[in-house]
Amino acid sequence: MMRRQPGLEDRTYRLLVEAVVDYAIFLLDPEGRVSSWNAGAQRIKGYAAEEVIGRPFSIFFTEEDRRAHLPEAAVETARQDGRFETEGWRVRKDGSRFWALAVLDAVRDDAGHLIGFAKITRDITPRYEAEQALRVSERRFRLLVQGVTDYAIFMLDPEGRVAEWNTGAKRIKGYEAEEIVGQHFSRFYTAEDRAAGVPEAILEQARRTGRFEAEGWRVRKDGSRFWASVVIDAVHDEDGALVGFAKVTRDITERREAQRSMEEMREQMAQMQRLEAIGELVGGIAHNFSNLIQIVLSGIRLASAAAGSNRKLRHILADIRAAAEKRASLTEHLLAFSRDFPTSPKVIDTSEALRDVADLLGRSLPSTIRVTIRLEDDLWPVRVDATQFELALLNVGLNARDAMPDGGVLEIEAQKLTLHGGAVAVTGRVVAVHLRDTGRGIPKEVLGRVFEPFFTTKPRGEGTGLGLSQAYGFAEQAGGTVRIRSEPGRGTEVTFLLPAAVEGAVEHDDPVQMPR
Ligand SMILES: Nc1ncnc2c1ncn2[C@@H]1O[C@H](COP(=O)(O)OP(=O)(O)OP(=O)(O)O)[C@@H](O)[C@H]1O
Ligand SMILES: [Mg+2]
Repeated sequence: MMRRQPGLEDRTYRLLVEAVVDYAIFLLDPEGRVSSWNAGAQRIKGYAAEEVIGRPFSIFFTEEDRRAHLPEAAVETARQDGRFETEGWRVRKDGSRFWALAVLDAVRDDAGHLIGFAKITRDITPRYEAEQALRVSERRFRLLVQGVTDYAIFMLDPEGRVAEWNTGAKRIKGYEAEEIVGQHFSRFYTAEDRAAGVPEAILEQARRTGRFEAEGWRVRKDGSRFWASVVIDAVHDEDGALVGFAKVTRDITERREAQRSMEEMREQMAQMQRLEAIGELVGGIAHNFSNLIQIVLSGIRLASAAAGSNRKLRHILADIRAAAEKRASLTEHLLAFSRDFPTSPKVIDTSEALRDVADLLGRSLPSTIRVTIRLEDDLWPVRVDATQFELALLNVGLNARDAMPDGGVLEIEAQKLTLHGGAVAVTGRVVAVHLRDTGRGIPKEVLGRVFEPFFTTKPRGEGTGLGLSQAYGFAEQAGGTVRIRSEPGRGTEVTFLLPAAVEGAVEHDDPVQMPR
């Protein structure tokens, strides 16, 4: 049929080609001049057939492409390889541009001679622009995610392996992208969490509910831990299939620490207020008591004189005196706590005082307890009542002894510090004296009460509960403070912060009223 009616077939094709409006379909002669034109070509390029036939097809190219000899190269490639396919900007008659998908096919006669080229061009500008826009927004998004350094933002595949990694992830977790991509995300968890199956459970929840959010300890590459705020979102494609998880992790260790020290401070303030109130009460009672004892003691003196040679009576009076004197020393402790105790502060060599106490403790504590001392060089002097200072250190040392019945270490350490407010009420240059033991520690519920007078957990007759209140009274009277930290089962640390007597060391020899 085709051979019998070639003319008809040709015509059908021509009509078909001419009718196509979505594609520019036209012929070029071997030199690249336009030799046929269809409706699509007119629609897309804007030229009517009579305007364009006989003109070189290079007129459809941009100025830059023409200068780069792209039209010639296209023709040359089609001539050699039989075909040339490309995408690029082309120019309409009115000078506007469109993004073209163009195919150039060499057309040869039966003898194989090149008789021209068939050219099909499509205007795919909308698709190109959409792709471009997507590419730009993807690039922007990628740059944005990459640029974020405060948050670790990364993708996990559905099995939990790291698929993408940003700068923040690198900064916070310490891994380079190349070493972590492909690894399972469980390695960011602590060994305990991994053993308990926490990472898997978290992914499972994110898979089921679409989201998981929590705070917890995570592990950096170097093994150190940080307190992380973590959000995991399940990511689905258009068809609803799970493609992975987006994970955003923040290091909020500092915020957590700040919160904790705030709480600690609040607790301390409350405790100090309570101690203040108790101090006033105790001070009042102790004064009365002290006066009473003075009266009793002077009465005893008079009675002793009057007793003459009555041995029995003298004996009774001596007993009464011993008891009264014992109570007198008790009231002294109470007064010290309430800060009503008359003190005689002097500038002392802090290192020397601490070494003396360490010696004394070393000699008097059981041999199962090792006393160590570590002092910073050139410790500043402090202005304190030396006797009260020694007593305070001994009270803390004796508590350490009682906390270590099976032996342990009592460590005395001191250093210079400059405080700028914050959690402690004392500011400026201070000497910090720490006494640490490795004893049984203090339960949390007890810790807040240890400075209260008469608070003791020791059996009747063993503790009066005045040791730490004396230490507290001493520190306050010296213008400093005392703090206690403890971890049950591990040990206790008592820290005295005493204002350094740096400038005052030479000028004021006489006792000076210490600030309260
Ligand atoms: N280093 C320590 N380790 C464990 N618990 C301690 C330590 N220091 C003090 N405590 C606890 O604090 C309480 C109060 O101590 P504090 O020194 O004021 O009184 P005490 O030791 O009981 O009696 P006192 O010191 O008057 O003989 C103690 O009973 C004990 O429970
Ligand atoms: Mg004690």
